[in-house]
Parts: sequence; structure tokens; C-alpha cells
Amino acid sequence: MCGIIGYIGEKDTQQVLTTGLRKLEYRGYDSVGIAVFNGESVQVQKSKGRLEELQQKLDQTPLLGSIGIGHTRWATHGEPSNENSHPHTDANKEFAIVHNGIIENYLEIKRELIEEGYTFQSETDSEVISHLFSFFYNGDMVSTIQRVVKRLDGAYALGVVSEHEPDRLYAVREASPLIIGAGEGEALISSDIPAVLEHTRDIYILEDGEMAILTKEDVTLLETETGIELNRDLFRPDWDMEQAEKNGYDHFMLKEIHEQPTALQKTMAGRFNKDKVSVEFDELQWSDQQVKQWDKITIVACGTAYHAGLIGKHVIEELTRIPVDVEVASEFRYRRPIVNEKTLVIVVSQSGETADTLAALRQSKHLGAHVLAITNVVGSSIAREADEVILTMAGPEIAVASTKAYTTQVLTFYLLGIYLADRKQTISNDYHEQLLQSIAEIPNKIEEILTHSNSIRWYSESIKDANSVFFIGRGLDYPVSLEGSLKLKEISYIHSEAYAAGELKHGTLALIEEGTPIIALITQDEVSEKMLGNIKEVKARGAQVLGVAGEGKMDIWEYVDECCYIPNSLSILTPLLTVIPLQLISYYTSLALGNDVDKPRNLAKSVTVE
Ligand code: M6R
Repeated sequence: MCGIIGYIGEKDTQQVLTTGLRKLEYRGYDSVGIAVFNGESVQVQKSKGRLEELQQKLDQTPLLGSIGIGHTRWATHGEPSNENSHPHTDANKEFAIVHNGIIENYLEIKRELIEEGYTFQSETDSEVISHLFSFFYNGDMVSTIQRVVKRLDGAYALGVVSEHEPDRLYAVREASPLIIGAGEGEALISSDIPAVLEHTRDIYILEDGEMAILTKEDVTLLETETGIELNRDLFRPDWDMEQAEKNGYDHFMLKEIHEQPTALQKTMAGRFNKDKVSVEFDELQWSDQQVKQWDKITIVACGTAYHAGLIGKHVIEELTRIPVDVEVASEFRYRRPIVNEKTLVIVVSQSGETADTLAALRQSKHLGAHVLAITNVVGSSIAREADEVILTMAGPEIAVASTKAYTTQVLTFYLLGIYLADRKQTISNDYHEQLLQSIAEIPNKIEEILTHSNSIRWYSESIKDANSVFFIGRGLDYPVSLEGSLKLKEISYIHSEAYAAGELKHGTLALIEEGTPIIALITQDEVSEKMLGNIKEVKARGAQVLGVAGEGKMDIWEYVDECCYIPNSLSILTPLLTVIPLQLISYYTSLALGNDVDKPRNLAKSVTVE
């Protein structure tokens, strides 16, 4: 995945591009570059590595001009290098392009262009696009773009500048996100909204099969294939830059962990009717007939969103008795899933752009299922293609490690479970009331855990040198263990595994030795005794156990070395609480190890390629 930015206007173009790229770094950060038209020719500067390295080059040789494009890359075709960085140009530098996505037929195009005498500087799929511009240019950029995109198979968001039209910036979208900012006397393109908010709040969200022509004065949207002009309402985000910046925290991840009480409050706002006796989803237009017809629910997602789905399964099955499958999207899409018009498919994705989840959504629709998306990004591909959308209200999540998006997804599953239970009348009024009451208390309980975050910090010091950390739990504590383990490995780079505690003795127990750190979640009352038995098993092999349990559970001191208490709540709701210390443990461990917390190695925020 990559981030693209483009600017036309009177400001310092180089600066607008580099500041925009800084905000897009979460999309990729192994190489970076910009191209600026200086009135005579297109000048390009690029660099392997982070933006700082490009900045050093630009400090020596600034690029001046009033139109330009920029790109921050996460390598897919060709290693991170100066040559493989974008922007790419044709041989005469008449055209410069930035690309996010994948050109699936680039080898075939490259072969044809080489036969025509074109030479290539990079190993990327994207470079074919700049040469195609040169090959097809006929004096008119719109028809040239139409001819270029006809040759491309795959996904692309493009920003294009040409010395033939130095007062126009072009943007094209097909299956990769792209937005347009229409400012006063200036206009921008970007892969994501935060990168343009400093300049304007007037946003157009480009759709697949559309292109835009940007001048200083105006923005024109066209259907790419026909050139027909389009009318599109402006989108004005109601969150501000401060929300997208660190706001005094050292890292986005820490800020986002602390934003969870507010994010959850926003996600539940307006969902309870005024007497808190029912949950409402105005966006769901489900007839009784439809609800009756669904004989199962299939949840599809990747990574952390998949872990939220595992909790969703437990909750929906418990409250409604409807069977629920949960599948990893990259597996689902390559088998013949049993999904049809009797299935409600729920795809979960923070970004709304994850390629495998999007493919699973399309496949499910093709098979006749009704698809509901739970996503955090308005106008994302998944939001647009699903039959219905529930938006989580987490606000922009910048850190690669997902925190507030996860808890808002989990909360959405609780609300959805109760909503379905209401429709199917599968829970008692008392339990219903108790659930809603307890859900409303969750944000304050998270606040309480966060005020004690320093008492969790010491634990990171004790695991930072471990070779391996194990997370164990039973019932709902197991999917939370999976999430805690993923969080730890992705930002601390310490090997970690999560186990359903009862499974340990079927193999993994062999790995437990003197001093092995184990984080044991003990919040599920029905299996609490069993869990204590499992802790005994690992203690007997010398493990060092940190227990995470509900306040007042004093008997566990007999079994664990240390304990982290969370406020009490209904057993079914504890996942929203237990995950908070686990997020903090991974954050502080990554910090103690001196890692780049927000941008872990080898990972990008949103995985828009397979
Ligand atoms: O944007 P999505 O929710 O579809 O992303 C799915 C995963 O890539 C994501 O949850 C990933 O596992 C997290 N960044 C891990 O913290």
C-alpha cells in the first residue's frame, strides 16, 4: 500500500507535498518522492527510506513550482530503492505519475513497450503507466488517460502531471482510494482525508471508474470511460486535524488507546432508544422475513478485525442462537464457501480497503448473500460496495497497531447481537436491560484502567528480553488473548502465541520452561476454576504468570506471580476491558525496546494488496 498526494495552487508546493506525505506515512514508508513542475520541466526528487532522507535532498536542492505530486511507498514490486520510488516519468519527463495499487498485466505491457523502444528505470509495475502516457499522448490529456487506463488491469489510484498541461493536475481512481480537496485558489488529491485537512474541508470522494481534473480555480469530476461530467456532493468531515495529530501523546498508538472511552461513547451514541430499552440501527432495513430467512451468519475479516469477529461470533450465538462462522478473508476468498441467500455475511474492516476482505465481500454478494459491513471509513471501498454499513465512530486511526478501531468493532458486535436478539426475542427483558446498562458503563471502566497504566508499564520491563510470551484464556478470554498476542508481536517483535488454555497440554506445554512469561486472562466465571487449573500446569513448569482478572478476585494470588485487575462487569462484556492492559503492555514493551511504535517494520496500516 502507498500514499499519494498532489497539489496545485499558490502555496509552496514542495512543502504542501512533504507535509501531506508525513500524514500518509502510515500507508507505507520504505521510500518516498515528489515531482514538481517548475514552469519549464518536471523535476523529480526521491529517496529510499523515510521522508527525512528526502527532506535532506530537498533542503540542498529545493523543487519550486505551483503544481506537483508526491508518493510514500510500501514495496510490492521491486525492493525499496531510489529507482523504484515514485514518481515515475517517461524518458523525456513529459509526464510524471504516482500510483497506489497493483497493475496485474504490467509484465505484458512492459514487454510491448520495450519492443517499441521504451526503456525502464525501475522494477515496479507502476512505471509502465508513465510510459503509456508518452505512448498514447495525442494532444488531449482526457482522451490520453482513457487510452492508458484501457490497457491497465488491476487497482490504481493515480496522480498525473504533464508538461503539456502545466496548469492541470489529473487524478484517476480504480479500486484504490483517492479523494480530492477543493480549496480556495488551490486543489489537492490524496489517498486519505487527513493529508488535505490543513488546506480544505471541502472533499470529493472519487469513485471507481472516475477521474478528476484539478486547476487552481476548480475541480471537475468525469466518468473515466465516457468523459461525461459528474455532479458530486461535497463531503465535509466533522473531525478535525487535532484528532488526526498526536495531541500531546508521544505516539499515535498511545493517543488512540486513550481515545477508546470517547470512541466507544460515540459508537454507542444514538443506538439506545431514549429509555434504554432497545438498540436501534436506523441504517439496517431488515424485514422480519429477511431476519427469519438467515440460517447462519458468516463474519469475514483480517488480523485484528478478525479477532473482533471471533468475539462477535461468541456474542451473537450466545444472545440469538444463530450459528456464526468466522473466517480469515484471505482463506475465505480462495475456497468454495457455503454462503448463499440464507446467509448474512458481515465483513469487518477498519480501513474499508483491505483487499482480501473486499474480495470476500464481492464473492459473498456474487453467491447471493446479504452483506453488512462494519467499517471505520466513510466512502471506503467496503462501505460503498456492501449492501448496508454500520460505521464505527473511532475517528482516524493512524498507528499501524489497531486499538480503538478494534474496541469499537467489538462494541458494534454487542449492539448488533442485542439488536438481533430483540428481533428474534431470544433474551429476557431483565438480561436485556442489564446488558445495556453495563455497556453504557464500559467507557468509564476503561478510563479507570487507563488511569493505572503506569502500574502496567513495569510489566513490560520484565518481558522485554523474553524470547517468547504466551497468552492464555478460556471462553471469551481466548479471542482477547489472540488479539493481545498479535499486538505484542507486531510492535515489539517478540515471538508470542495465544492458546485456548485447555489446549496447552495437547502440545504447546512442551515449550514452557523456567521463566517463560505467561499472560493469563481469568474473567470468565463459568470456566474460572478450569483456568486456574491450567495456570497450575504452567506454573509447575516454571512459568512466570501475570493474571488479568476482575477486581476482588483475591484467590488467584495463590496461582499467579503478578496480577492486573480490571473493573468488574458482566462476563460477556469483559473483552472490552481485558484488551486494554494487553494493548498497554505491547505499547510499553515496544517503547522499552526502542522500536518505532507507530510504524512497525514490514507492516502497513492498510493492506490494499493481497
Ligand atoms: O483495515 P482492516 O481492519 O481491514 O485491517 C485488517 C488488518 O490488517 C488489521 O486489523 C491489522 O491486523 C492491525 N493493524 C493489527 O493491529
